Amino acid sequence: MSIFLDSAQIDEIKRALQLSFVGGVTTNPTHIARTGRPGLEVLTEIVDLVDGPVFYQVTAHSLAERLDQAWEAHELRPDKVVIKIPGTTENMRLVAQLSEAGVECLVTAVASPAQAYLAAQVNAEYVAPYVNRLTRQLGDGVAIVRDMVRILNGTQTQVLAASLKTMDEVVATLLAGAHHITLPLDLILALGDHPFTQQAIEEFNASMQSTG
Ligand code: E4P
Repeated sequence: MSIFLDSAQIDEIKRALQLSFVGGVTTNPTHIARTGRPGLEVLTEIVDLVDGPVFYQVTAHSLAERLDQAWEAHELRPDKVVIKIPGTTENMRLVAQLSEAGVECLVTAVASPAQAYLAAQVNAEYVAPYVNRLTRQLGDGVAIVRDMVRILNGTQTQVLAASLKTMDEVVATLLAGAHHITLPLDLILALGDHPFTQQAIEEFNASMQSTG
């Protein structure tokens, strides 16, 4: 069970890696566009920093071009780059071909257990449901995660839950059985803190001071 950072900002990635529990980085085309730099240039810098997997999405118009993009990204660091491919029926051919060739793939933006089932048929390593977006658009993103986990039971395909916006949503998603989560830096930084703990620390510190 890994926690990934959802970002392509180098300063955020460096900060997250200092924490020692962040297992890799998920990028998406929006994150990459925000850097104002070419995607492969950003990806190269990220894989040099991160020990674990770095997820990179293909965006080209045709299937053949997306396949070329996938190979180009994979060949930068075959041991680290995981190719993100949006979950369409047509794209499953791409996932099948890449998986068969030993390239790890994540089927992204999946909204239904049927898409997750199909991703498992073509040996995707991961599927990524966007929990908060699913709740806003379809009603209950956590329930969709729960169904995906059930349908993927016994396959090699794991649920990497994305688009998590609050701590309650993170906990509900983990309780629904998500194998991995990806979070923005602010949520990662908040994971280990709680006002109760802070209050206890302050009380203990006050006790120490009163006894000299
Ligand atoms: C997943 O890898 C995506 O980067 C991301 O979490 C998408 O969701 P958001 O734009 O709602 O955060």
